[in-house]
Amino acid sequence: MGTGRVLILQKRQVLVFSILLGLSRASTESLRYSVAEETEIGSFVANLARDLGLGVAELSSREARVVSDDNKKRLLLNVLTGDVLLHERLDREELCGSTQPCVLPFQVVLENPLQFYRAELHVRDINDHSPTFLDKEITIKIPESATVGATFLIDNVQDLDIGSNSLRDYSISPSHHFYVKIHDSGDGKLYPELVLDRALDHEEESELRLTLTASDGGSPPRSGTTLILIKVLDINDNAPEFDQSLYEVQVPEDRLIGSTIIAISAKDLDTGNYGKISYSFLHASEDIRKTFEINPTSGNVNLRSLLDFEVIQSYSVNIQATDGGGLSAKCTLLVKVLDINDNAPEVTISSITKTIPENASETLVALFSVRDQDSGDNGRVLCSIQDDLPFLLKPTFKNFFTLLSEKALDRESRAEYNITISVSDMGSPRLTTQHTIAVQVSDINDNAPAFTQSSYTLSVRENNSPALLIGSIRATDSDSGSNAHITYSLLPPHDQQLDLASLISINAENGQLFSLRALDYEALQSFEFLVAATDQGSPALSSQVLVRMLVLDDNDNAPFVLY
Ligand SMILES: *[C@@H]1O[C@H](CO)[C@@H](O)[C@H](O)[C@H]1NC(C)=O
Ligand SMILES: *[C@@H]1O[C@H](CO)[C@@H](O)[C@H](O)[C@H]1NC(C)=O
Repeated sequence: MGTGRVLILQKRQVLVFSILLGLSRASTESLRYSVAEETEIGSFVANLARDLGLGVAELSSREARVVSDDNKKRLLLNVLTGDVLLHERLDREELCGSTQPCVLPFQVVLENPLQFYRAELHVRDINDHSPTFLDKEITIKIPESATVGATFLIDNVQDLDIGSNSLRDYSISPSHHFYVKIHDSGDGKLYPELVLDRALDHEEESELRLTLTASDGGSPPRSGTTLILIKVLDINDNAPEFDQSLYEVQVPEDRLIGSTIIAISAKDLDTGNYGKISYSFLHASEDIRKTFEINPTSGNVNLRSLLDFEVIQSYSVNIQATDGGGLSAKCTLLVKVLDINDNAPEVTISSITKTIPENASETLVALFSVRDQDSGDNGRVLCSIQDDLPFLLKPTFKNFFTLLSEKALDRESRAEYNITISVSDMGSPRLTTQHTIAVQVSDINDNAPAFTQSSYTLSVRENNSPALLIGSIRATDSDSGSNAHITYSLLPPHDQQLDLASLISINAENGQLFSLRALDYEALQSFEFLVAATDQGSPALSSQVLVRMLVLDDNDNAPFVLY
């Protein structure tokens, strides 16, 4: 957890990647911006053109965009101005809870060449929550023997704001018997503690009703109140005692609602009502009250809602055992949540090129990011594609990968590839997510027409009728479309005496050869010429072939006597 390691295994295209990263590999410093929570949508956050020292034209030509680490669209980049604007109203309490500072990391991604900038948006707190007591009325039972100076902690108060907007001050009225001391819980929270100032007397006054007011440190401050009912009890001389002061239990995050995770037990030496123990949570936060419940009589602690390791990894629960006379003891229950591999890896495609020309080498096909919300091995992922494809995966920045063609491709041997990106985590059972990208290879005119024979020999009987079909010549082209569209033509003969154009013609489309007039064997017994086949690519490619034409004799001359 928390390391920025990227391992590369022997298998070239398989990469191991740890998702919960702390360090980044970018050399540049992060850009830091700050905005108050609840700021209007559309408000200006930053000007990237200025902060990155790039022109607005360059931002838009390089398809600049902002990508948050969790892929939420909280920010919007206007590429015409370079301004980054708020795309949604941010609620600091919802985003970060009690974590401070509240930082939302994001990346600025530029293409051609691919470039990343890290950036952070700090969300500032505003005083938008009042202190709240989780109970409208709190009953405290105090034996009349309680000595002056005894303290009673009131813990069920919260303010969702942080820092100076969180709980600050308390007051109580009327204040004849108690004053309020502020107790620092050590985790930054200030709780009120009632301190007994004047001894109680059950016989004189068996109940007191007080109003406790909590104020926060905001400007202006907000406040909340609760009613405190003090019951003054007759005395009881033995307090309950827990078997252990600290209980520890490990619970897998998939444990069912309603199951008992542990049983807590305390004893009290008194008899009757003074020895009867009742269990309850003490100092319990909202999270604890939502997640657990304790059976007041048995001390069994049960699950009220599902645990989620990805949200909370451990709970420290204070438990109080109170006897019927109001005496109490405390213990602590430590609940450790165990991670289960319950999140599959996620793949987010940022950009994709579906068609690449066959002669281009190392072309960017896709840019994508992977993540897995589990931790440890459950969150460590392997990213791979099929072994037998001329494509490779490269880690680029943090959890981003690029898919590249490895070399120039040949459309004539394969015109389409389906590339499946598989991302598996290393948990047990292993969870895998796949994403398939179809890539088409577009044609380049890289093949010349090829004749079906290395030369052609055709014959025609003399005295033929004009426009006779003598034969045909054929060539093929393995490119596609106009790159494979062939036209045939006659080339000028080497023999200057031969008037080829008056003897032969060729059909440019199908290569058929015709004689143009009757031939005479006694005048011309054979002749040769070249035919060209040319495709329509740009630039066009062509080939030539030799055609030999034989004129066959006919018995068209009567014999005559020389002597
Ligand atoms: C690919 O072919 C086209 C068209 O023939 C050419 O313009 C381009 O320079 C070639 N590219 C590479 C990388 O060879
Ligand atoms: C790629 O996938 C599509 C859709 O499943 C399929 O029609 C096509 O034949 C596949 N192509 C290859 C080369 O496997």
